[in-house]
Amino acid sequence: MSRVAVVTGGIGGLGTAMCKALAEQGRRPVAVDFHGLKPEVVDKWKADRKAEGLDIPVYLGDVTNFESCAEVCKKIEAEVGPIEILVNNAGITRDALFHKMTQEQWDQVIKTNLYSVFNMTKQVYEGMTARGWGRIVNISSVNGLKGQAGQTNYSATKAAIYGFNKALAQECIKKGVTVNSISPGYIGTEMVRAIREDVLQKIIATIPAGRLGEPSEIARTVAFLAAEDAGFITGEDITVNGGLYYH
Ligand code: CAA
Repeated sequence: MSRVAVVTGGIGGLGTAMCKALAEQGRRPVAVDFHGLKPEVVDKWKADRKAEGLDIPVYLGDVTNFESCAEVCKKIEAEVGPIEILVNNAGITRDALFHKMTQEQWDQVIKTNLYSVFNMTKQVYEGMTARGWGRIVNISSVNGLKGQAGQTNYSATKAAIYGFNKALAQECIKKGVTVNSISPGYIGTEMVRAIREDVLQKIIATIPAGRLGEPSEIARTVAFLAAEDAGFITGEDITVNGGLYYH
């Protein structure tokens, strides 16, 4: 069914692959991304998708801001349709060892990675439960599961997603809404490529698969959890990390 599927961080490395996988599944993907992006970046992204035969609308806002999320979601619902699938994928890193971490680095990551989950889910939850169908997929991380030196801020937000999901899953499964997460390992996106080369090589050496993951390997898991017949899976997390760490 061509249900509207909103992907935050939708024009980034993982988000783009998610939009494509959802389109392939017959969904109507909508990318939500940061209002600070340059218009030419958004235009190029849209043109690249067009060249692939995809017409994916992009809405800009600020996921750290509740009012901005309300505005964006209202617009999408008026212009595209009711939001039935939400992928909370927007996330940032501000890595630093704890003794060097500033309050700003802490706040930025908590607001972008965690407040965003509340701010966006709040906008779509009532509609999903009233209609009796919904899929919420939150993107966590292997580093929420295992912890990562240099990421006390990031690991805290990604671990928080497990608690949020398990609590909300119990509230809404009877109303046809599922809440799950995916914990990607190290995937070949800009975020991971920003790690200092020597540090990154050491990390790759610890991944049993011996390589970084592909964005499409995360995106297919999003489509799996968003499927029509995934309605009995809720409160669950799926790790996709090349064997780096298990539940
Ligand atoms: N465990 C324990 N100690 C560590 C460590 C680790 N993994 N990494 C660094 N240290 C220690 C070093 O041994 C060193 O100690 P000494 O001074 O006693 O030798 C000290 O910390 C300083 O190390 P650096 O020179 O590397 O410090 P830095 O301040 O330049 O950099 C850092 C610190 C930014 C955290 C850097 O080590 C780094 O980038 N690490 C990788 C963090 C990481 O994995 N981020 C993931 C980003 S991608 C992502 O988040 C997506 C996802 O979901 C997976």
